[in-house]
Formats: sequence, C-alpha cells, structure tokens
Amino acid sequence: MPRVKIDFAAPALPKQGTLVLFVGDDLVLPQIGKAKWPAEFDAAVKKAAAAEGFKGKPKSTLVLSAPAGLEADKVIIAGTGKVEDRAKADPVMLGGAIKGALGKAKHATILFTGPKGFNETPEAAAHFALGLRLRAYSFDRYKSKKDDDAPKGDLAVTIATQDPAAAKKIWSAESGVADGVELARDLVNEPPNVLYPAEFGRRAAELEKLGVDVEILDGKKLEKIGMRALLGVGQGSERDSRVAIMRWNGAKKGSKDKPIAFIGKGVCFDTGGISIKPAGGMEDMKGDMAGAACVVGLMHALAARKAKVDAIGVIGLVENMPDGNAQRPGDIVTSLSGQTIEIINTDAEGRLVLADILWYTKDRFKPQFMIDLATLTGAIMVALGQDNAGLFSNNDELAERLTKAGQETGEHVWRMPLGKAYDKMIDSKFADMKNTGGRFGGAITAAQFLQRFVEDVPWAHLDIAGTAMGSPSSDINQSWSSGWGVRLLDRLVRDHYEAE
Ligand code: BES
Ligand code: MN
Ligand code: ZN
Repeated sequence: MPRVKIDFAAPALPKQGTLVLFVGDDLVLPQIGKAKWPAEFDAAVKKAAAAEGFKGKPKSTLVLSAPAGLEADKVIIAGTGKVEDRAKADPVMLGGAIKGALGKAKHATILFTGPKGFNETPEAAAHFALGLRLRAYSFDRYKSKKDDDAPKGDLAVTIATQDPAAAKKIWSAESGVADGVELARDLVNEPPNVLYPAEFGRRAAELEKLGVDVEILDGKKLEKIGMRALLGVGQGSERDSRVAIMRWNGAKKGSKDKPIAFIGKGVCFDTGGISIKPAGGMEDMKGDMAGAACVVGLMHALAARKAKVDAIGVIGLVENMPDGNAQRPGDIVTSLSGQTIEIINTDAEGRLVLADILWYTKDRFKPQFMIDLATLTGAIMVALGQDNAGLFSNNDELAERLTKAGQETGEHVWRMPLGKAYDKMIDSKFADMKNTGGRFGGAITAAQFLQRFVEDVPWAHLDIAGTAMGSPSSDINQSWSSGWGVRLLDRLVRDHYEAE
C-alpha cells in the first residue's frame, strides 16, 4: 500500500506538485502570508470557474493543470460553501475528501487556510491529516498484479498552516490513532487461513514494541482456568483457541484509578458450527473478529500516543468449525462464572466467548468499566442498519459518554433497551440459561446474555455487526473493513479517563 507522508510548514507556494487551496462561495483566493497571487493566476481561476460553473459549493472542486503564473503542476481549488457550511465541516472528512481529489498525486501542498469560519486551528490541521491517512488506506497485500488505477508510490503532503509546530505535535499523537485504525482494518481484511487464533495472538503480541504488556493464554491454560464456554466454541476446529491480554500502564505511578477494560469478540472464522450457516456470503465471516481487531487497534493508539491511563484489552480468539468433535445443539457447558449454558444454536457463539472473558476481566482486574465490542448479531443490522452500532449498557453515564464520543467522531452508537422481560427469554429448561432467545429481539437477548456475566461493573456492549465490515465507501474509508470503534474509544478515553 502506498504510504502518505505528512509534514507541516508555514504557508508558502510550492515549486512543484499539486497545490490545494480552499475558497468560499465568493471564490476569493486565500492569503499566503504577505505574498500576492500572480495576476495571471487570478484571471485563470476566474475563467476556469466560469467555464466549469464552479460556485465554491462544499465538496465541489475546480482543477487547473499547468496553472498560469504558478510553479505548481496542478491546482485543486476546493469549495467550502458558506460560513454556516464551514462551521459544520469536519476536518477529518475534509482530509479524506481531499485525498480522494488528489488521486494519484505524489506530491501535494495543502494551503490549510481559508475564508472566514474555516477551522484552521492546529487541531483541525492534524485532524485533516488523519482524514488523508484514513482515505489512503487500501488492502492489496494479496494482489499479485496491482490495479492500474490505484496510486503507485508514496504521497508526500505538506500541510501549510499558521502554527506548524503546534500542528505537528498534535499530529504525532493523532498519527498513532491512524496507525491503530489501519491495524484494525488490516486484521479484519486478512483471510481466515492466514489469521487464525494463534496468529492473531502473535499480531497482538507485536504491541510489546510500543510498551504494552501482552500475555497469551493457549487452550491448555484456558482449560485450567475453566473457560469452558469459550473453549466449547473452538472445539470443532483444528486450530487451538487463545485469549490475549494486553496491558497499557500509562497512568502515573501510584494512581488510585482502577484500570479501564476493553473486551473483543475474536471469532477468526464463523461457519456457524454444526448449526452451519448458508454458503452465500459466508466468506464475510472472516471479519467476525472485528471486535478483537478494534481492541488491538485501540491499544495500539493508546500506547502510541502515550495515553495517561491504565487500559486493559482482553480478546477471545477462536474458530467456529463443524467437525466430529464440534459442540452440539443440546450440549450444556459450565462457564468460568460457574453458570451453566445450554447450547441451542452453535452459531450463537460470540456470546459464549465473551461470557468467559468478561467474567475473567471483571474478576482479575476489577476495572472501572468494561466495554465489549462484538460482531454479535445479524439482528442489530436489521434494527439499525450500518450507520449506528447497537449500544447496550447498565450505566447511563457510560452510555451518554459513548453517545457523545460517537457524535464527535462520526462513529455513531444508538442505545437499545435491556430489561427483565428480555432476560427471561434466555432462561433454559435444563441449564441456568440458553444461548439463544428465539426469533424476536435477537440483538437484545444476546446483550442480556452478556449482562449475566458482568455483575455490577459499569458495562457497555457494542454490537458492531453492521458497522465493522462491508461498510459503504466514505470519504475516509474505501476498504471492506472500516476499523470502526478505534476512534470512538480513543475519544472516549481522551475526554474522560486520562489524567491531566
Ligand atoms: N457472527 C454472527 C453475526 C453476524 C452476522 C455478524 C452477519 C456480521 C454479519 C453471529 O455469530 C451469529 O451467527 N449470530 C446469529 C445468532 C442467532 C443464531 C441467534 C445471527 O445473528 O443470526
Ligand atoms: Mn455465529
Ligand atoms: Zn459470530
């Protein structure tokens, strides 16, 4: 994948490459320090705008090749509309859109300044860079012939801004978030013959390079601990199950705050098991580890930007396969909590994995809160589509904070109900509970199941089946996998859980 190299500098006109500048609906060119635009360039812009009917509307661009009076090879004039439009504009999205407009460019200078109301703070400049990076992501590791239309070689971008030093500093943290999102996308895009539980564990262990402590528990160890609900899911697979525990200790020594914990469903492939899924689209189930991928991406982001918090990531890595040793409908397993579970449908496996790691995390780490992420149910896609993840929580404050972080990052969550009447739906004739709740409220009964393993720890469950993969292309994502949740949770941590 071509890389984007980002640098920040004071506003100046480039001697080569593509120049990007922003105008409002009055088409007035932005100022570049004390320098003046050459008169012939000004005239060329007016003429081109008239010829193309360019009105400076948001998301519209006017392109001039070999622009008169400038040394740049090409100029892209990007519309930002009216003052009100600019106030609403998200710099991350703008960065993505501009990367799209840059296409195959190898060298670009962005004049990150503009008409009244254009957000040109150092934060905005760094967020713009984040958008550029996210848009540039592609997963082409397994293409032996590269696509003719795809950009080749790296793109060097200079973002010209009033306070380049401040922007650079913010970007040094923000680029860690970009790396985390890319890592999560990579993990979800990887094929399931490459990324099986042990290999996923090794990828998680690479976080040690950033100072994260990583512990990998193999099947034998999990057996000893008593994670039978998790192990039951993997017992039809040739590939041994794993649990990976990642610890980032970024809080000050002696801090009395309890750690925060993130838990991810890592079903490296979900065939459904004996309750096997239909063939059509089954290949998408390589992405059934997106929750775990998000947790790894988040831990990467927190460590890379040296977040001042103690954070724990726990992921359950299994492969759900049918074979002679596979779990059967009707089996009863004893979970780590001691509660027994009757398996009704072996395709409702994610909750079995989460049940044991939620309980384990709660017992071992006594966290301030637990947030789990899981591609848990098809039902959440029926309910919410692809623009909102389902949010279930036993804690209003945590739910509100997540909702706000969702609005800030564009990774939206929508709160769904929990309650006794739903909980009853998973009572079992033969065991303490069963792993499905019938046809109605499928995403809710799945969440109710999880809630039986968290006791009173503040907890939120994010059902990301609709948001993590197969996402529609956007200004900041063109890949099958979105890396959804890394930016959301990074923002949540920044806004509420880091020491000053
Ligand atoms: N991994 C699936 C859920 C899923 C479906 C994620 C489509 C992404 C896209 C999960 O393990 C599953 O199979 N859930 C079942 C539960 C049912 C058997 C109670 C479902 O949603 O159909
Ligand atoms: Mn399943
Ligand atoms: Zn699944």
